[in-house]
Amino acid sequence: MWGKRRIFALYLYAYAHMEKIYIETYGCQMNFADSEVVGSILGKAGHSLATSVDEADFVLINTCAIRDNAEQRVRHRVRELRALQGRNRRLRIGILGCMAERLQSRLMAEEDNVSLVCGPDAYRRLPLLLEQVRDGQRGAEVELSTTETYADIEPVRLASNGISAYISIMRGCQNYCSYCVVPYTRGRERSRDPQTIVAEARDLFDKGYREVTLLGQNVNSYSFAQEVAGVKEDSVGFPELMERVASIDPQLRVRFATSHPKDLSDALLEVMAAHPNICRCIHLPVQSGSNRMLKAMNRKYTVEWYLDRVDAIRRYMPDCSITTDVIAGFCGETLEDHEATLELFRRVRYDYAYMFKYSQREGTYAAKHMPDDIADEEKTRRLNEIIALQGQIALENNRKEVGREYEVLVEGESHRSKERLFGRNSQNKVLVFDRGDAVPGTYRRVKVTDCTAATLLGELADIN
Ligand code: 5AD
Ligand code: SF4
Repeated sequence: MWGKRRIFALYLYAYAHMEKIYIETYGCQMNFADSEVVGSILGKAGHSLATSVDEADFVLINTCAIRDNAEQRVRHRVRELRALQGRNRRLRIGILGCMAERLQSRLMAEEDNVSLVCGPDAYRRLPLLLEQVRDGQRGAEVELSTTETYADIEPVRLASNGISAYISIMRGCQNYCSYCVVPYTRGRERSRDPQTIVAEARDLFDKGYREVTLLGQNVNSYSFAQEVAGVKEDSVGFPELMERVASIDPQLRVRFATSHPKDLSDALLEVMAAHPNICRCIHLPVQSGSNRMLKAMNRKYTVEWYLDRVDAIRRYMPDCSITTDVIAGFCGETLEDHEATLELFRRVRYDYAYMFKYSQREGTYAAKHMPDDIADEEKTRRLNEIIALQGQIALENNRKEVGREYEVLVEGESHRSKERLFGRNSQNKVLVFDRGDAVPGTYRRVKVTDCTAATLLGELADIN
């Protein structure tokens, strides 16, 4: 049998060889959710998580590849970390996520201070990769999977406020929008077992969380069929999944992102309307207001279809906010196409929009077959026009909110003043208000008294 001293020595040996790891995340909500899965996998393997780069032996950067500027930001960070490596020779760098998948070992050839590259479906192999690096090698794992959903992994809630959390319900995308790199970096679409999703949401609620956001690249095509004794049962679709999660407790708010307009069904809107705790906010990326561009983008819907979905949302839930993504200056976009986008913005009157310049991504259909023919300055000009219009619309929308009262989930102190708190209403608008006796993690009624284009200002309306 092993003596106590031997076990202690082994423990010390293992401890001395376990890295302290700092995870840095760039990009979309999905990446933030993935970093929490990574944290959990590393914790189980005996590693500890550092709270800053300074105390870390290993920095893992979870990256985004959606536009060139997202990649340039990561490249810049890798070079910045080189200086730190000069001072701390033990410090190693690993690249995770979409950029790792896109560039694979090319990334290590280009950035010689990177020791490890790991794609989004290979995180279970991270502990092995770390061991490899410890043995003096560099390692890359980038195989994509058709089945991996990390369903059994309980994410560690990194940088969480203990109130709201992300739950990843599906992975990958196979819509192949012609501009988009995601189908290549995140692989085929696959849905996670609904039982594990509901269990995760219930567990969060029991721990005091009051809001979950169900995440997927295209949540409306969520579909999971269990196989029992080799026979597939009826599949669970997104409306049914929402129904199940929303039924956990009326005090648990449920959000979701992202919806593809082609798949936004009335069945989902019905479920939403029936459950007041499903938040009145739908993110519905339009990308362009021109049918010609939508066809070139392979979006599989028309402006008329999109507007019909917007009408349906407002029919079922007149108080629902709608947000979007849009791309300015896609291949072959004429001034007429651009004007059609502005016109669509005037029609829909979004509450918020993420607005981008087209960025050509290697390997996509557009990069292979469509010239990136709008000059950069012209893309910027069109983008700025959309931004200005949207700013005006958001401000006008917010002005209409003055005088209304909302239930707000209090999240924490306002960044500007300790005397004020902030929270969100069901429509996902941020409300800032005098603290009074309000406590983060609870629901309070707040009356809107003033606004900016981004924020509603208010006062507690339910003070005793
Ligand atoms: N260039 C610019 N924006 C893009 N998006 C996706 N790919 C590109 C690209 N190549 C935008 C889309 C998408 C959002 C997440 O990013 O608007 O909805
Ligand atoms: Fe990219 Fe289109 Fe899939 Fe969204 S739906 S991730 S834009 S391919």
